[in-house]
Amino acid sequence: MTQVIELEQQLIEFERTASKSLADANAHAQIEAIRQEFLGQKGALTGILRALSQIEKEDRPRIGQLANKVKENLEALYLERKTFLDQQELERKLQTEKIDVTLPGRAKKLGHIHPLTQTLNEIEQIFLSMGFTPMLGPEVETEYYNFDALNFPPDHPSRDEQDTFYTNIDRAGPAVVLRCHTSSVQVRTMETCAPPIRAIFPGRVYRNEEINARKFPMFHQVEGLLVDRDVTFGQLKGTLNHFIRLYFGKPLKTRFRPDFFPFTEPSAELDSECPFCNGSGCRTCGNKGWLELLGCGTVDPNVLKGLNIDPEIWNGFAFGMGVERLAMLKYGVTDIRHFYNNDVRFLEQF
Ligand code: PHE
Repeated sequence: MTQVIELEQQLIEFERTASKSLADANAHAQIEAIRQEFLGQKGALTGILRALSQIEKEDRPRIGQLANKVKENLEALYLERKTFLDQQELERKLQTEKIDVTLPGRAKKLGHIHPLTQTLNEIEQIFLSMGFTPMLGPEVETEYYNFDALNFPPDHPSRDEQDTFYTNIDRAGPAVVLRCHTSSVQVRTMETCAPPIRAIFPGRVYRNEEINARKFPMFHQVEGLLVDRDVTFGQLKGTLNHFIRLYFGKPLKTRFRPDFFPFTEPSAELDSECPFCNGSGCRTCGNKGWLELLGCGTVDPNVLKGLNIDPEIWNGFAFGMGVERLAMLKYGVTDIRHFYNNDVRFLEQF
């Protein structure tokens, strides 16, 4: 009997200590440890219950029930404390990780393709659709590719340092220039590819110019070259008229004015009816009704001969246009420097 009473007291005392520990615990780790210590497989309660075997059979159910009750109570207390701690932690998080959803958002700035690159891509795309292949060449060139092979006489004014940048100004060795047109790549192409040739030459070119609203010492060109049998000036006209229709998005009247380039004969300047006033005169065309768009002509037989292409069999046409100029005309940009200032307010409009 004393054993039974002792056991009962032990259980009551056990419940009291465990409850107090749980009530005092302030962290999840603590309550988990307490649960292990009192209720786990190797815990104190298991120890107490082991003593059940030593008491009278008829007392066992009562003590057993008491033990279960104690266990249930403690489990409930444990859960209650755990919920409380969970809640406390949530509140702390809500306090410290507070977000003010009324603050204005930070917009992501998305970049896009530069208007000149867009224009260049557009021009390339039109010629690609007509079967022209883009070819690239170096921006630093020998005088041979930039001038000699293109039939420029030795005393041609373009060769002057006033017009062209030389990188070896002391003229030791062959003269090296920053190419002043991409015609240099036409030469390189005719040198390495057997005709028929149908290519365009996009790229940067350099000229020793005063900077103003229309001129910049660096700009971009797309030139073109077609070499085949029985090429006619009419085919050149057709090609360029088609280009202008696609670039400006509508058919425009064009006219070819005689001009001169050392590497084409005959040569012409191509004007188109102003797409903004339909030829009646406006600010963009300087009230002329016409826009000067590009230079072109029939490839001079001398150029072909110099590159071992027989002019008795092959002939061709060439053309060259300024990308900045075409972009300025299409978008009504009045100062070429806008393209290089990197002012987002300008660039954003394209
Ligand atoms: N190379 C000339 C220029 O830069 C353009 C051009 C190319 C003219 C081909 C005729 C034929 O001005």
